[in-house]
Amino acid sequence: MDGTRTSAQAPLDRLCSALSANLATAGGPTSVASLLAEYASAEGDWRDCARFVESAYTRNLIYKDEHYELLALCWSAGQESPIHNHMGQRCWMGVLEGRVEEVQYDHPAGEGPLVEKGTRTFEPGQVAFISDEIGLHLVRPADGRPAVSLHLYARPFATCRGYDPATGAERELALSYHSVRS
Ligand code: SIN
Repeated sequence: MDGTRTSAQAPLDRLCSALSANLATAGGPTSVASLLAEYASAEGDWRDCARFVESAYTRNLIYKDEHYELLALCWSAGQESPIHNHMGQRCWMGVLEGRVEEVQYDHPAGEGPLVEKGTRTFEPGQVAFISDEIGLHLVRPADGRPAVSLHLYARPFATCRGYDPATGAERELALSYHSVRS
């Protein structure tokens, strides 16, 4: 997929073109959030990228360039991400289907147990933002039901740090794709 295609395109391609233009020119977080919210509220062609498996949530790559990557994450009931950081990058999450819960944590002084800061639940069309300045988080579907969310990472990263909440111990997490949009 070419991030510079024009408006006679599928909604997902139009979204990627608009995001590419925005993020290549240091566009503001508000415009990224608005673009994701507009897409998540109105469009359904993300369904072609949605894949669920029983063993774990899936990370399905929609688009990637040097500025950002966009993924559809599919969550079955009971699945959740590890508690993780974002490697100094910015992360937006828009809900496509179902409700998605985010639990945020602090790691005071970078050692010892994590401190839970609170839980927020997002509805379809809503967009969340997190960076390492805000904290660590885990993501999971709410209500014991499946969910799908759109995640944008600017810039892309291939590994991040995972945290044990009880001890604060860190480990490296390799971030792989379950599928890649052609
Ligand atoms: C992930 O990308 O695997 C976790 C979800 C997130 O950081 O938003």
